[in-house]
Amino acid sequence: MAGNCPVPFSSFSKLSLLVFINLILYPFTEGQTSGFSTHLIHRDSPKSPLYNPSESNFERLHEAFHRSFARAQYFNKRISHSRSKLLSHFSSDSIQSNITSVNGEYLIKVSIGTPAIDVLAIADTGSDLTWTQCRPCIRCFKQDAPLFDPSKSTTYKQVLSCRAPLCRLDPGITVCYPGNICGYGVAYGDNSFSDGDLATDTFTFESSSGGNISIANVAFGCGHENGGIFGVTSSGIVGLSRGALSIVRQLNASIAGKFSYCLTPRNSYISSKIHFGTNAVVSGPGVVSNTLFKKAGDKFYYLDLIGFSVGNITIRNQGFTKLDNSSPNDGGNVVLDSGATLTYVPRQMYQNFESGVIDLTTGTRVPDPGTGANFRVCYNKYNNLQFPEIVAVFSDADLIIPPNNIFVEVSKGVVCSTIVPTDGTPILGNLLQINFLIGYDLVNGTVSFLPTDCTKND
Ligand SMILES: *[C@@H]1O[C@H](CO)[C@@H](O)[C@H](O)[C@H]1NC(C)=O
Ligand SMILES: *[C@@H]1O[C@H](CO)[C@@H](O)[C@H](O)[C@H]1NC(C)=O
Ligand SMILES: *[C@@H]1O[C@H](CO)[C@@H](O)[C@H](O)[C@H]1NC(C)=O
Ligand SMILES: *[C@@H]1O[C@H](CO)[C@@H](O)[C@H](O)[C@H]1NC(C)=O
Ligand SMILES: *[C@@H]1O[C@H](CO)[C@@H](O)[C@H](O)[C@H]1NC(C)=O
Repeated sequence: MAGNCPVPFSSFSKLSLLVFINLILYPFTEGQTSGFSTHLIHRDSPKSPLYNPSESNFERLHEAFHRSFARAQYFNKRISHSRSKLLSHFSSDSIQSNITSVNGEYLIKVSIGTPAIDVLAIADTGSDLTWTQCRPCIRCFKQDAPLFDPSKSTTYKQVLSCRAPLCRLDPGITVCYPGNICGYGVAYGDNSFSDGDLATDTFTFESSSGGNISIANVAFGCGHENGGIFGVTSSGIVGLSRGALSIVRQLNASIAGKFSYCLTPRNSYISSKIHFGTNAVVSGPGVVSNTLFKKAGDKFYYLDLIGFSVGNITIRNQGFTKLDNSSPNDGGNVVLDSGATLTYVPRQMYQNFESGVIDLTTGTRVPDPGTGANFRVCYNKYNNLQFPEIVAVFSDADLIIPPNNIFVEVSKGVVCSTIVPTDGTPILGNLLQINFLIGYDLVNGTVSFLPTDCTKND
């Protein structure tokens, strides 16, 4: 497999003293950075280490749909709790899917420790804690890259007291082990979980002004007991939510609440970048910005979606869920999520979208070809198929959605709408976000979308 992997994902563990020297040459100084970046790639990209060449594109897509529904369950159950709660959860909930990990679809490269070790993990806007499998391993899932070995990092520090501020940052995640040792436990809604020590170490990123930037004392989980199917070359999770322990919040002083990403098409051969700090500002002609909402009691990113306008039909002022008194601190109705593949909207909103699509699309409707997702609106790709313009209408500004972000060929010759109805938490999934540069600004409270060819954003 290694032979197939290109830069940057081929060079795990080839790190040496060179990295250590770089850290000395480019020490991180708070406030002086112009931003930093790292790589992002879809797990089903032929260049991803998770790529399974024995499967067809359609099989991979169907598995992504399956993962997407598990992901949607994660939001509904709001699972983020300690191991003991996790165990009781699983014994009371017998329907667990075998093959899915609900954590996300895009992989991110981070470098941890001194000397720095590259870790390829799942980028998750719905998770707060970053964790990686660690030595010694009591229980680990199979991973191709070497496990992170805290004893080999000169900058690794375990959070030694349960009274330490870091240990109290997120009581839903941290646990106190006997001996006053601070640990953590996270579970993700299927049978995946990680438990271990809460620790800090130096994280290294590529600086936008050249060289590397290393940031000391970033808290993460050193996982000694890990389970679930994360895939052999992902070693954990990088948490990008707005939760207290996420790297977005921990790095706030240097990134001023800003990060941006550009999601490449699923099967793209090319990785894109996730930016932090000043180079994560998304602006200029064509940018569509909306208020970024948060909700008390959770860590997700919300937008206020009024509905989808189909063709020339305007949906403003048609009785949709404009939240009259929504404040940025408790508003929004849809989670902007990197992990879910599909887009889930409330039934009433969906009905209007669906009837608009059916009315205004030319082509021949066919049933769902057995994707497992039970898509309601599918067409024969070859029979004069033409979709109307679709616009996502948010409370502040409208976003034109390219048809390819919604209507996806799910099996040979059949194209289905990947916007689906839900009675649970509405989610804007990653198919909808492809080929937009998306900038989150937690300080200004905005999310900005700029149509971009993400394969050229590296
Ligand atoms: C899980 O896998 C087992 C065997 O590997 C199978 O018998 C069972 O039906 C699967 N369960 C689900 C929910 O897919
Ligand atoms: C930055 O660090 C990476 C390892 O994380 C290393 O491979 C690369 O050579 C470094 N680049 C520079 C310009 O120092
Ligand atoms: C993040 O940083 C910005 C400016 O750098 C500051 O205004 C804001 O209060 C910080 N937010 C948090 C949660 O620390
Ligand atoms: C939409 O509006 C344009 C001009 O604004 C018009 O040319 C087109 O026929 C309209 N389409 C439909 C489906 O009404
Ligand atoms: C901050 O948000 C406002 C709207 O709330 C927007 O007009 C402005 O451009 C944003 N500023 C930056 C620097 O993104």
